[in-house]
Formats: sequence, structure tokens, C-alpha cells
Amino acid sequence: MSSAIINGKEIGQEIRKSVEKRVEKLKEQGIIPGLAVVLVGENPASKTYVANKQKSCEAIGMFSELIKLPEDVTQEALLDQIRGLNEREDIHGILVQLPLPKHIDEEAVIATISPEKDVDGFSPVSVGKMMLGQDTYLPCTPFGVMKLLEHSGIEVAGKHAVIVGRSHIVGKPMGQLLLQKDATVTYTHSKTPDLPSFTKQADILIAAVGRANFITKEHIKPGAVVIDVGINRDENNKLCGDVDFADVADAASHITPVPGGVGPMTITMLLENTVQAAEKKLE
Ligand code: GUN
Repeated sequence: MSSAIINGKEIGQEIRKSVEKRVEKLKEQGIIPGLAVVLVGENPASKTYVANKQKSCEAIGMFSELIKLPEDVTQEALLDQIRGLNEREDIHGILVQLPLPKHIDEEAVIATISPEKDVDGFSPVSVGKMMLGQDTYLPCTPFGVMKLLEHSGIEVAGKHAVIVGRSHIVGKPMGQLLLQKDATVTYTHSKTPDLPSFTKQADILIAAVGRANFITKEHIKPGAVVIDVGINRDENNKLCGDVDFADVADAASHITPVPGGVGPMTITMLLENTVQAAEKKLE
């Protein structure tokens, strides 16, 4: 069996085109969707992510502003910046790039972002609303995975989805979104004994454990849909996912590559959420 490759770059582009049209409509009504990105310190990966987010905003005509703060910024100074952004009319979405330096209380920072501008969907209010199935901003990576499944014509209702990983950003919300679409969901993680006995039951397997090439053929039920959320470096410093693509590709019915699978969807959904926030100004 050879599997269908889910092309996140192509699906992401398609969604971005429709988001761009909504940006044009908003501009006709005098609103330029604006995203503020707060970057603390000099983490090279964070700098790259942030630059990509800004570039993607500008490519579809949105406004983006980078607030760059030194590594030793005080908690209070950072919270003051966020409070200021909460008040600004030209900023519809606020994103604080994680991780933050160790002396900063990450939870307090996220909780300070106004829920109306929390386009990452990480604040306690957003998470609570998501759990209750209420209208809110969905966290971008799991939201992007749902869009990949939808655009690939993969039915979720009635399927057994197994999540490997339980992070606040991906694993936990991923299970919730699948559950809301009537999947039966099993959570597993790095401390689950006999992991293959669980993953082999998956119709849809979500790998979000953060370990290079960790998921192999022995974890897969033939014909499963395999979604790889990992972004790692292998022993040759080559970009790779949590799934050993070459080993798994023949067993899966559908599989996402790394790069070019889930990755492009995360920024796409950030654009979607920010435009949604701007559209709420018209309501
Ligand atoms: N760090 C890694 N992924 C993310 C993300 O999706 N949002 C933010 N704010 N920080 C991150």
C-alpha cells in the first residue's frame, strides 16, 4: 500500500487566499487587521518563528508589529506591554512567543492577554471556552490539523483517534477538537507503557511527543491516517518529525510530511484567528 501525502503547504495556501480576501473586505470598511507579536530575548528558533509569522501577515495585507524585549525584562514591564496592547484599537490579536525566560511567570503573562485578542487560544478563558465547545479562538496547531483532515476528506466522526503527547499547546486541545467532531479519543504520552498497543488501535494517529522519528511501523495499524506535529532535528541535523516517515509511509493511508505538513497550517490559522478578531469589530 502506498499512502497519500497530505500537503499542508498547498492546503495552507488555499486557506490563506480566502483569508486574504477577507482582509481586503475589512480594508474597504476601514479596518486593517493587526497582530502584535511579543518576543522576549534572543532564542534563535523563536526569532525564526516570529519572523515567519510577521512575513505571513504582511503577505496578505495585514499589519504586524514586533515588540522586542530584552532577555532580562521584568515581569511587570512585560505585563505593562501586554496591558498597553490590550487597549490599542489598531491591534486585534496579541501573541507572546513561547518559551519565555525562566524568571517570567508564563501563566500570568498569558492570562493578561485580553481573551478578545488571544489569537493563540492559550489563555485560561479561551481554553475553558474551547472545552465547553463555545465560540473562541482555537489554538493554531490543533485547529490547523482539523483543517488538514477536513480538506483531505477524512471523516473524523466514529473514528478512534490516538494522541501521543499531552502538551497544553497541541496534545490536550487536539483531543478536545477531535472529540467535538465525534471521534473516540485516547491520550497517550511519553510515560504510557506499551505504547504500540494503544497506537495500533488508531484510525487517526496524532504524533505530538517531540521526539525525532519516534513513531515507527510497529506503532501503526495498516490504513491509519498519520498526522505528524513534530519538528525535530535528527542525528545529521536534518529537519524531521516525530514519525519515521520512510518506515511508516507504506502502512498509512494518509500521512503528513515534515516539513510541509502541519507546520504551514499553524501560521495559516494564526492569520485566520487574527482576521476573525478584526471582523468582530464590525459586529
Ligand atoms: N512557541 C511554539 N509554538 C508556539 C505557538 O504556537 N505560539 C506561541 N505563542 N509560542 C509558541
